[in-house]
Amino acid sequence: MTDISHTPVSAPPLLRVRDLVCGYGPIGVLEQVSIDVHERQIVTVLGGNGAGKSTLLKAISGLLPATAGQIEFAGQDIANLGATQIVDRGLLHVAEGRRLFRTQSVMANLDLGLYGAKLGRAEERRRLDEVLTMFPMLAERPNIAAGALSGGQQQMLAIAQALLRTPRLLMLDEPSLGLAPIIVDQVMDVITRLRAQGCAIVLVEQLVERALEVADKAYVLQNGRIIGSGTPAEIHGSDLIKHAYLGV
Ligand SMILES: Nc1ncnc2c1ncn2[C@@H]1O[C@H](COP(=O)(O)OP(=O)(O)OP(=O)(O)O)[C@@H](O)[C@H]1O
Ligand SMILES: [Mg+2]
Repeated sequence: MTDISHTPVSAPPLLRVRDLVCGYGPIGVLEQVSIDVHERQIVTVLGGNGAGKSTLLKAISGLLPATAGQIEFAGQDIANLGATQIVDRGLLHVAEGRRLFRTQSVMANLDLGLYGAKLGRAEERRRLDEVLTMFPMLAERPNIAAGALSGGQQQMLAIAQALLRTPRLLMLDEPSLGLAPIIVDQVMDVITRLRAQGCAIVLVEQLVERALEVADKAYVLQNGRIIGSGTPAEIHGSDLIKHAYLGV
């Protein structure tokens, strides 16, 4: 892999993935994938359709078992933990396609976000108030079915649901999918606000330019391998994107 990054970062990474090999049964997808995400960093993972971006997020969040390699979060090995234990440690994953309960109300979906957190009522209330302040449009329509929200509102609800678990790292899989450009602006704004609040982000995006605008670092994935990484400026100045998306 070509590491074209020149930015030294001294603190140990919050998320450290090394030589990850993973797939679906006999079908191998990821081969020796290594990435680092530091506190308060937005790290984007770019790559064409089928490159393995969603597979990488699923492996990190414990939805898919790793065949080989290491995954450490906050200095601890999480490669063999179950998905709920990983969530408990503050690593949250908003999956591709916003997996909401479409017939359930906004509030019911938020309550499901708190499910399993084992908090007292007062703390639940405090966290709900916090996310409803962050996403006023959800506060305005608490009883509407999630499926009746616009695409952008559904994305905000899916993010809000994850935020209720106070993530240290939030992984977002194509949050802009199907959204109008002005709504994509709002999603990117939420992502940069979260970083300012101290949350690290892994952002998988098809909108390469938009992702590079907000990211601190980018990895480029092709056929299950990282073919390069660097700052957005370094990625812009390289042929990596052309390689990854056009295969040239
Ligand atoms: N459930 C599954 N069973 C078998 N193979 C799968 C499964 N999900 C994905 N794959 C395969 O794994 C490879 C990587 O898929 P993945 O969904 O990780 O790609 P991606 O980079 O997220 O693509 P996209 O941009 O289209 O979302 C593809 O070849 C895909 O066909
Ligand atoms: Mg995907």
